[in-house]
Amino acid sequence: MAPILDEHTVDFISHSAEQTRRVGARLGRLFTGGEVVCLVGDLGTGKTCLVQGMGRGVGSVDRVTSPTFTLVNEYRGGRLVLYHVDLYRIVDAKTALTFGLDEYLYGDGVCAIEWAERVAELWPDDYLRITLRHIDDMKRGVTLRGFGTQHEQMVRRLKHMAFGV
Ligand SMILES: Nc1ncnc2c1ncn2[C@@H]1O[C@H](COP(=O)(O)OP(=O)(O)OP(=O)(O)O)[C@@H](O)[C@H]1O
Ligand SMILES: [Mg+2]
Repeated sequence: MAPILDEHTVDFISHSAEQTRRVGARLGRLFTGGEVVCLVGDLGTGKTCLVQGMGRGVGSVDRVTSPTFTLVNEYRGGRLVLYHVDLYRIVDAKTALTFGLDEYLYGDGVCAIEWAERVAELWPDDYLRITLRHIDDMKRGVTLRGFGTQHEQMVRRLKHMAFGV
């Protein structure tokens, strides 16, 4: 396990898609509502994989495409609704807003956004940033960092749960 950089950062290497899903599931179990997860990383680095795990972690039994915004998948039937937003085809914040992205960001559920850097100006003050990088076929570098009270606390809990520190 790679070194822990500071209290609100976790940095590690995932060795498989399933391991990445399991990390997502651990996070999903920590969600209490109102979390925003900004996912940053190139094509195929595991952003979707991580969100699938989060769906599992909130106990979702059902994944449907949002009726109002086709770039959003909703993981339903669990403790919380997880909104999975994919901005790959959205180039800027203005376009994302016309699709109602702000309603997902400030709703009661959890919002996880792929290609979140495209709308960096819309990121709330309190959020979790997850950066993924490709190392080789099976390895991905994953860095999680909480910003703001709620998400800093979530990262502290994750560390405690996963690493015992
Ligand atoms: N350690 C790993 N973690 C996650 N995915 C991995 C890992 N090793 C291999 N993979 C593979 O990499 C791919 C990751 O795909 P995924 O759709 O999650 O990426 P993505 O970041 O969402 O890509 P995109 O930007 O196209 O949406 C999958 O085919 C998965 O099986
Ligand atoms: Mg994806």
